[in-house]
Amino acid sequence: LHADVHVLMTENATNFINPITFETLTGNKCLVDTFDRNFQYSVEHVSLAKKADVVMLAPASANVIGKIAHGIADDMLSTTVMATRAPVLVAPAMNTGMWENAAVQQNIKTLRARGVEIVAPVSGHLACGDNGAGKLEDVAVIAERACELLFAKKDMEGLRVMVTAGPSREALDPVRYISNRSSGKMGYAIAQAAQKRGAEVTLLSGPVAIEAPQGVKLVPFTTTQELLDRASELAREQDLLIQAAAPADYRAKEVAPQKIKKQGGEPMTFTLVENPDVAATLGKAKRSGQVFVGFAAETNDVLAHARDKLARKNLDMIVANDVTRPGAGFDVDTNIVTLITKDGQEALPMMSKAEVAQRILDRALALRRE
Ligand code: PMT
Repeated sequence: LHADVHVLMTENATNFINPITFETLTGNKCLVDTFDRNFQYSVEHVSLAKKADVVMLAPASANVIGKIAHGIADDMLSTTVMATRAPVLVAPAMNTGMWENAAVQQNIKTLRARGVEIVAPVSGHLACGDNGAGKLEDVAVIAERACELLFAKKDMEGLRVMVTAGPSREALDPVRYISNRSSGKMGYAIAQAAQKRGAEVTLLSGPVAIEAPQGVKLVPFTTTQELLDRASELAREQDLLIQAAAPADYRAKEVAPQKIKKQGGEPMTFTLVENPDVAATLGKAKRSGQVFVGFAAETNDVLAHARDKLARKNLDMIVANDVTRPGAGFDVDTNIVTLITKDGQEALPMMSKAEVAQRILDRALALRRE
């Protein structure tokens, strides 16, 4: 792979490394100041911004991150980032205190929400002598992420995709709830993969501890009823719906207004009532051209139960996972699934949830074309 590399430096960066070093390595002029009269073109920042397939800020200081998060363009680097339409990757490197500073974290959040790829720093020995978070990620990892941006399949451009992920929580009293072990990892991996393939992604998420993928629209829900309400509002405009969430089938008939007290040794009884079936309800309103995918989390007779759900919920595909198998199901980074459609089934070996996500999207796109 040959890359044509152009290096832009802030004036501060030139205090650490002489631009000539980069000019020797890249064979291209290293650009520093927008008003350098030796530039070939007066609008060099725009021409470079147009030429780039990917723009990488590595290492990115707290200062430059703050500038691009707030639209400040006062030097060659920040004007180029502002003008480019190419994907932007930011790999921060700074002192731990600076990295953890609320302003920096807010700026990182802002950039992520805009679709900027952030390669988070790692912990290690820092230039200031401290040990902690803020060390530039390994260069090979940064290069790999840049390659992902450059060579990602873009076969979902123009498609609207809604993904559900994570558990629901059904309150028993003001402090307790019924829930399950869904971490959101499976659904988040699908949302991220679809976004990277160019889709416009809405992610309906129950309460989880992981961060939303960059560039997706996050719509939170807590209860199964809330998931149904949000999803019903949004489902019509989607091309693809993938339901990896684990909404509770039951909720308490009555939520105690105060914290429930112990019963002095007596058994405690709760009456549960059935929640709506979100997938089945949405399935009834499916319009032609839409592809709906569900999951089946099973512990026995996996394929039979999954097939039953495929038909009952009017789905085009169901992803069956036997959640009793090690390396499959809840809260792990891998999954073992069988993709079931009306016409057939494909059992996949254990693979990362990121890879499972790609396979589900491949299949869903094929169904759309049928
Ligand atoms: O989140 P992770 O930790 O990564 O774990 C992933 C997972 C195990 C949660 C995921 O792979 C998975 O199997 N998700 C579906 C969980 C589930 O609720 O399965 P189910 O067989 O009970 O439901 C079948 C389908 O109907 C699912 O698409 C579910 O979203 C939907 N459903 C279920 C109940 C309900 N009341 N309404 C629904 O729409």
